[in-house]
Amino acid sequence: MKLFSSNLNLAIESSCDDFSCSILKKNDSKINIISNVVYSQDFIHGIYGGVVPELASRNHIKSAIPAVNIALSKANIKLKEISLVSVTSGPGLAGSLLVGLMTAKTLSYALKIPITAVNHIEGHIFSPFLNSNIKEVFPFIALVISGGHSHIYIVKSHEDIKLIGKTRDDACGEAFDKISNFLNYGYPGGKIIDELAEKGSINAFNFSMPMEHSGNFDLSFSGLKTQVISEINKLGGPKHLQEETVFDIFACLRETIAKILYKKVMSVCEYTGIKDVSISGGVSANSRIRSIFLESGKLNVFFPEPAYSTDNAAMIGYTGYFKKPVDPIINKEIFYNINAEPSWEL
Ligand code: KG4
Ligand code: ZN
Repeated sequence: MKLFSSNLNLAIESSCDDFSCSILKKNDSKINIISNVVYSQDFIHGIYGGVVPELASRNHIKSAIPAVNIALSKANIKLKEISLVSVTSGPGLAGSLLVGLMTAKTLSYALKIPITAVNHIEGHIFSPFLNSNIKEVFPFIALVISGGHSHIYIVKSHEDIKLIGKTRDDACGEAFDKISNFLNYGYPGGKIIDELAEKGSINAFNFSMPMEHSGNFDLSFSGLKTQVISEINKLGGPKHLQEETVFDIFACLRETIAKILYKKVMSVCEYTGIKDVSISGGVSANSRIRSIFLESGKLNVFFPEPAYSTDNAAMIGYTGYFKKPVDPIINKEIFYNINAEPSWEL
């Protein structure tokens, strides 16, 4: 069995349509990212207006070995120097997860080094602490907003993470993506809408905020999506809108989503008395969501660097250091059974 001569971790994330590999190093309690490579498939799925699961896993097969090689060479590290492998084992698309898992398990077995299986959402929750001087302060509230998640957690430690509220239907990233698709502005729509919203007016439309007074911490975005689509149809449909009107719709949609999230998180903070908040996931790159939280001055809010907002292996490697390592020889049975958990809830 290889001795721990270094704390170099090779991490893999492939839960959806990005294949990412990252090399991290741990010195005492400080974790540094040495490289982080992401193979995006946006250009493949864009033409379908959303992720096609089979295409995602088939393209991961092509990206896996190059991504590992490039992450190692960018880090100037040899494969034999790696002492730990971390990998996303859920939640996500089964086929996509399996490609990353088999790559990671093969590396762990061949190099005779331990592996840690990581929950993708937990990776997002801790992503604001990547490459940052901000220390983890427990307990904190975590808002995870992405293409598949709009979830709120109370995080007391790496082992104690409790779901307190979540969307009852669409995720907020899905609302951005679907409206962008409907108006033929491209996929994924979040970043496109964020940029074009700058040119519109937030006073042009008055969209209501579903679940605002629900008395719990759940969210909903499907009703908002329907409001926007019916407004577009009232104006004659996507093909008949002036560009200025589209910018106004984007501005009002972004403003409404930012307000929904801010109000809900504020109510969680008031209820729990916790003021430290981590906001992560692809949608956390949104400039209005960032400003509404930062400008309020009422909370201590941590956002990941934009590169670590969307899916990346660095957050999986970071979180992987806090998980119990499974040795492929000593813990053979557990190792063999590490598998894709597409619906793994924290
Ligand atoms: O975390 P992520 O990369 O993948 C999932 O786990 O889903 O998030 C992708 C989502 C997409 O819905 C995309 O439209 C959204 O993040 N997104 C944004 C922005 N950048 C990416 N949404 C709003 N504003 C942005 N700037
Ligand atoms: Zn994600």
